[in-house]
Amino acid sequence: MSFQKVFTRWTDDPASHTLAFYESKGGYESARKAIRDWAPDDLIEEVKASNLRGRGGAGFPTGVKWGFVPKQTDKPKYLAVNADESEPGTFKDRVIMEKYPHQLLEGIIISCWAVGIHTAYIYIRGEYVFAYRRLVEAIEEAYAKGYLGDKVLGTDFKLDVTVHRGAGAYICGEETGMLTSLEGERGQPKLKPPFPAIEGLFGCPTVVNNVETLANLPYILEIGSEAYKKVGPERSPGPKLFCVSGHVERPGTYELPMGVNLLSLINDTCGGIWKGRKLKAVIPGGSSAHVLHADECDVAMDIESLAAAGSMLGSAGVIVMDDQTCMVNALVNVMRFYHHESCGQCTPCREGTGWLEKIVHRIAYGHGKREDLERIDQICGRMVGKTICVLADAAAFPAWSFTQKFRDEFLQCIDNGGSPAVKARHPDRIGGGLHV
Ligand SMILES: Cc1cc2nc3c(=O)[nH]c(=O)nc-3n(C[C@H](O)[C@H](O)[C@H](O)COP(=O)(O)O)c2cc1C
Ligand code: SF4
Repeated sequence: MSFQKVFTRWTDDPASHTLAFYESKGGYESARKAIRDWAPDDLIEEVKASNLRGRGGAGFPTGVKWGFVPKQTDKPKYLAVNADESEPGTFKDRVIMEKYPHQLLEGIIISCWAVGIHTAYIYIRGEYVFAYRRLVEAIEEAYAKGYLGDKVLGTDFKLDVTVHRGAGAYICGEETGMLTSLEGERGQPKLKPPFPAIEGLFGCPTVVNNVETLANLPYILEIGSEAYKKVGPERSPGPKLFCVSGHVERPGTYELPMGVNLLSLINDTCGGIWKGRKLKAVIPGGSSAHVLHADECDVAMDIESLAAAGSMLGSAGVIVMDDQTCMVNALVNVMRFYHHESCGQCTPCREGTGWLEKIVHRIAYGHGKREDLERIDQICGRMVGKTICVLADAAAFPAWSFTQKFRDEFLQCIDNGGSPAVKARHPDRIGGGLHV
């Protein structure tokens, strides 16, 4: 079967976001089919059979997650759509919301029908102003045409969708942090269990799904789970958006089958490493993922293959670094981000991210000591698996993998008075910096 693009089929058309355009391409037919032909439980089984895995980062099987929601409950059930998209290097959900907001709405209808949900919230990062406007317009169009509201597609099924804007905190992308923020509280993660499917928004059963995950659903109903499973590797199949940034000739968001080879993505799709330089390293799944050395990049971009390579697909934010990149300086930026975004509830995360930033910073700025590398290892070891959410792990993974895989470069910075990149850019700042 030749590969069919599902998220970027008509992105060049300036009207792709409108209801008229979407309908002209068969839009909302899958939602119609779902409500007309599929009993909710059978639909959950069909999504399980498709092997659709969450696109938000953890890769959890979508149908299985829906199956956890209690069928008999007096409480309302909710869908919370994760459109926070704050992982560094990630900008795929944005394409869907700006260019195909109706495809997301159709996915929302399908999931709500399957799980018996009548209220959905889309939690979108505040910086995505244009995408927010596009979503609001699309929702108004969908209500006016009877795709949303008291009688979805003329049936007795009722569904309301509300968009909620975040205020710029990365931690509100973590599902329980997002739900707390939606409740009007400070966005801080909660211990799991209970998982949101059992006790989520306002204490009620809640499905949390990523934008891209939901936007797959119309296609699954269009071609059926058996055909869907044949797109890419069977255990984590489907069309996939890859966000490529950094030192390639043509950075951007590209739609390819899950499992595309990383080197082919860089060289064939993105035109190779810029300025004729060589590849040094790639972060394959957003900045939380373990960095891959150039020698490790002949790998398939899917959940299992990247896990076997010691990294992860994560949000599929592919950050490419050329041979002139200073890995110490790059790690300073990553560590600054996690320190800034830690919500501060857990001591290993609150303190650990701060210590990591300070130590890496002082290595870059000429104050490093050889024992600092040992100290980074120890701090990371005390962060992973010891906190309420995995932001602490997300900070430790790059710190670990950068310092292990590029140890010589860190040692050179320590022995030679700082990072060459910092010396070139800020010669006056060498010898200064943060101290632990
Ligand atoms: C610190 C942190 C940030 C996250 N940010 C996002 C995000 O911006 N968007 C997203 O969809 N998932 C994000 N996640 C993953 C969510 O917690 C959750 O797994 C996901 O929304 C579930 O949807 P899915 O099963 O469709 O992938 C984040 C997780 C963590 C720990
Ligand atoms: S791990 Fe960090 S971000 Fe997550 S809850 Fe604890 S302090 Fe907050």
